Amino acid sequence: MANQQLTVAVLPGDGIGPEVTREAVRALKIVAEYTGCTFRLDEHPIGGCAVEQLGSPLPRTTLDACLASDAVLLGAVGGPQWDDLPRSQRPETGLLQLRAALGGFANLRPASCSPVLADCSPLRREVVSGADVLVVRELLGGLYFSEPRGFSADSQEASNTMRYRAHEIERIARIAFDLASGRRRKVTSVDKANVLEVSQLWRQTVQRVGRDYPEVALDHVYVDACAMHLVTNPKRFDVIVTENLFGDVLSDEAAALTGSLGILPSATVGGQVNLYEPIHGSAPDIAGRDVANPLGAIASAAMLLRYSAGMPEAAQNVDAAIEMVLEAGHRTRDLSSGIPAHKVGTREMGTLVANAITDIYERQFAYHAV
Ligand code: IPM
Ligand code: MN
Repeated sequence: MANQQLTVAVLPGDGIGPEVTREAVRALKIVAEYTGCTFRLDEHPIGGCAVEQLGSPLPRTTLDACLASDAVLLGAVGGPQWDDLPRSQRPETGLLQLRAALGGFANLRPASCSPVLADCSPLRREVVSGADVLVVRELLGGLYFSEPRGFSADSQEASNTMRYRAHEIERIARIAFDLASGRRRKVTSVDKANVLEVSQLWRQTVQRVGRDYPEVALDHVYVDACAMHLVTNPKRFDVIVTENLFGDVLSDEAAALTGSLGILPSATVGGQVNLYEPIHGSAPDIAGRDVANPLGAIASAAMLLRYSAGMPEAAQNVDAAIEMVLEAGHRTRDLSSGIPAHKVGTREMGTLVANAITDIYERQFAYHAV
């Protein structure tokens, strides 16, 4: 879609967030140069830095800007200096409020292990190489958001509630089946239906939705077994659909087993405005040292191009650029595997990807000119 204008709210956040987001923004600017699409990129504070600057982890100005934009690109939030703040002031609360306000209930977390990175995995190459899992995590329900919740008056008791309504399960299931239709046509629904009523409703509902997708195979796996299968046989999975907290845990596991937590993106869709963020956290221990891996943020920008800008070719080019740079042996510190590689910092990695995107477009233009 050439010549369109897209407003993107850029929320760098805390820790390594600003460093990695900067490189993602560079990638978008190069895509803009070659496609004629214009990105209006406005930065706003979120998380701990917003608490410092404006007294709230999600300032009104940031929220309004996000709601008025076409997409939100976020870095990461959180840090030890804010860990003791009351819940309403914590950086994570800002992120949860933003998710709720944008309305995206489907959090897509692809974790694939390209052969070029298989030696970074803690698993044996033959177990993990070629694994390609998409975790579809329900993001607005379950233990994170359901009431009642809280401490008792004497603070000696605390509770959270895992509640789902059938329509909330149905809509996330549809997203999972739709996505599986364009992949290897297999959905694994993860629950704890041997113990929890909420999981029984989950299972029945997913089963019912599955009848509308006869071409997609559906199986049900308990969450504990799923955690095990992910490390023993990750290639058995295509799309995993699950509730909020299970998805939080399993998506970190799936990411870690590909050996490349730092390169994995996520997209949150289904609401008013989609939200894109790398799955890694703010990593305060390495912040500001030019060692963080910007590829997760750049890959999140690629998802933005795919799902919010309607530019799948541009998304493919950015993904291909990342793959090219990795194939050429460039590695940030987190991707060391014992195999000789060219070590690069955050900025240099961003530059390499930017140059690779440029090369890809130049080649495409040269081809069309012949
Ligand atoms: C994630 C994070 C968040 C979550 C935190 C920071 C609130 O762990 O995006 O997975 O639990 O959803
Ligand atoms: Mn998490």
